[in-house]
Amino acid sequence: MHYLITGGAGFIGSHVVDRLIKDGKKVICLDNLDNFYDPAIKRRNISESLKSQNFKLIEGDIRDLKLLREIFSSYKIDYVFHPAARAGVRPSIADPLLYDR
Ligand SMILES: NC(=O)c1ccc[n+]([C@@H]2O[C@H](COP(=O)([O-])OP(=O)(O)OC[C@H]3O[C@@H](n4cnc5c(N)ncnc54)[C@H](O)[C@@H]3O)[C@@H](O)[C@H]2O)c1
Repeated sequence: MHYLITGGAGFIGSHVVDRLIKDGKKVICLDNLDNFYDPAIKRRNISESLKSQNFKLIEGDIRDLKLLREIFSSYKIDYVFHPAARAGVRPSIADPLLYDR
């Protein structure tokens, strides 16, 4: 049984990951570590989880259908928690196409 957490290196996702790892669950984190804010913060968010055998980081984009198919065919995913998103109201007005792909 696996939990797939999109955006699992982000603020909310990484807290969910922490809790699931603490509970002994198997967690796959799909995150592209985008540069909306410093990716080093995201790497730090998951630095403890990376030490766990139950945790796997897949650096990739949720918009990559081929990758999603690979993940779902490689792992038995039972739960998906999907907080991955490009946040930011003001930047979405400055560059709307970035948010609409
Ligand atoms: N933090 C809050 O207070 C709050 C409040 C209300 C709603 N939300 C919503 O919850 C969600 C998560 O918020 P957060 O604060 O954890 O944001 P965050 O930016 O810290 O985390 C989002 C994560 O998603 C990843 N990501 C972005 N686009 C991706 C893509 N295409 N493929 C894979 N990964 C991608 C980013 O790298 C990041 O790690 C967002 O939708 C946000 O709008 C957050």
